[in-house]
Amino acid sequence: MELQNWTRALVAVTLLTLASAALDDYFDLPGPYCRDRGCCPGRQDDCSVPILGTLCYCDDFCNRTRNEDCCPDFWPHCKGIMPPEIPGPILGCTYEGIVYPVNKVVKRNCNDCKCTAISNTTAEMLCEQNACIVDPMIIDFVNNNYGVGWTASNYSEFWGRKLEEGIKLRLGTLQPQRFVMRMTPVRRIYDPHSFPREFDSEMKWPGFITHVQDQGWCGSSWAISTAAVASDRFAILSKGRERITLSAQHLISCDRRGQQSCNGGYLDRAWSYIRKFGLVDEDCFPYTASNEKCRVPRHGDLLTAKCRLPQFVDRKSKYKVAPAYRIGNETDIMFEILNSGPVQATIKVYHDFFTYKGGIYKHSSVSPDDRTGYHSIRIVGWGEEYTSEGLRKYWKVANSWGPAWGENGYFRIIRGVDECEIESFVLGTWPEIENKLLLQNEIPRVNI
Ligand SMILES: *[C@@H]1O[C@H](CO)[C@@H](O)[C@H](O)[C@H]1NC(C)=O
Ligand SMILES: *[C@@H]1O[C@H](CO)[C@@H](O)[C@H](O)[C@H]1NC(C)=O
Ligand SMILES: *[C@@H]1O[C@H](CO)[C@@H](O)[C@H](O)[C@H]1NC(C)=O
Ligand SMILES: *[C@@H]1O[C@H](CO)[C@@H](O)[C@H](O)[C@H]1NC(C)=O
Repeated sequence: MELQNWTRALVAVTLLTLASAALDDYFDLPGPYCRDRGCCPGRQDDCSVPILGTLCYCDDFCNRTRNEDCCPDFWPHCKGIMPPEIPGPILGCTYEGIVYPVNKVVKRNCNDCKCTAISNTTAEMLCEQNACIVDPMIIDFVNNNYGVGWTASNYSEFWGRKLEEGIKLRLGTLQPQRFVMRMTPVRRIYDPHSFPREFDSEMKWPGFITHVQDQGWCGSSWAISTAAVASDRFAILSKGRERITLSAQHLISCDRRGQQSCNGGYLDRAWSYIRKFGLVDEDCFPYTASNEKCRVPRHGDLLTAKCRLPQFVDRKSKYKVAPAYRIGNETDIMFEILNSGPVQATIKVYHDFFTYKGGIYKHSSVSPDDRTGYHSIRIVGWGEEYTSEGLRKYWKVANSWGPAWGENGYFRIIRGVDECEIESFVLGTWPEIENKLLLQNEIPRVNI
């Protein structure tokens, strides 16, 4: 009898050593054991269940405070109480063919799934139900339906993020207030038939057009698109003498009145800030995708702001613009781009837009989640393309999600039908360029 006790205890010690080496595996196993096996009175060495290739027990011999035996769910099941030392019932969740222990959290795209004990004997994997930016269903639909006109892709920087975060931190333009929307568009006189079928600012003004930027996780499209359109126009109107990248961070950090920095801003307020106070350049106040403190005095010039002065023009003042103006419709927008350069536009962003990879975008309404947000971008040109749906006219637009997104950072969107409201609120501006040249002979030559 004594010897037998010894033997069983020794086996148990060996087993526990093994088991603790693989403790995670041990608890990953779905229980319960004794409930299935049944509990036995007294000592019965054959009242056992195999775990990890060795034996555990469900007999009353397990009823000891110091017990080296492996007794999986003897205490909770056979005695109805939690064991003094040995962890409780071995519960687990089987999910996608894998068994997880209770309280284990796994991430599925943007949602946490937690193996949750529902009762003393059952556990279930419970997952959050947030809409994610990347929805494989949208990608499948867009890529497998003839006639959508564009293709979709999974972006690793968007994977694992909630749609809500995308709308809050990847866009960032507050819907214009109604009185601003009613701004009368400027009147133009032109012959639309004289316009080229395709036009790209970057071809007409090579080296003058601001590169695609990446706003990061900061809802700053209001500042980025404003600074970029102003920069483009400084370069174009000055014929390359004032090629600068104006600081979007300057707007985010300093144009705080009625604005929300990385949580969005109004375009009319951004433009009126530049009109009144001017901007410094990107080198002087680089982009950090954060609400960092303003370090440019409202008044004063580039010297008071501690910026380096430009090389080729005699400028000390910050870069200011005349009041922004609104441009009315498709042909007016084309006329404006052709003559003055890229314009700022606002689009309503739907769920499917985030995964745009290429082609001519048109909202597909495939997502069950109809959350939207406003985003400002820069229209740099236009064109036409034959597709399965016939001739499609498009705008070429610079986004601010880095060059790896879309068509090298750009997207094309259907033109002439106010798709996603893109033609509803288009703005342009005149920059106050510096006319005094500093070094007549050292102006960089530019081919136009
Ligand atoms: C279990 O052990 C406790 C004390 O060690 C004892 O009081 C109790 O009677 C035992 N139960 C059974 C069913 O043997
Ligand atoms: C679960 O176990 C606890 C003690 O650990 C007990 O108080 C409770 O009644 C049990 N619940 C069920 C549903 O068995
Ligand atoms: C999307 O990309 C991420 C990261 O690159 C990857 O982990 C994930 O499995 C991809 N999802 C799909 C549906 O392809
Ligand atoms: C756009 O507006 C102008 C007036 O500013 C008008 O002459 C032109 O016909 C309009 N074009 C379209 C496509 O509606």
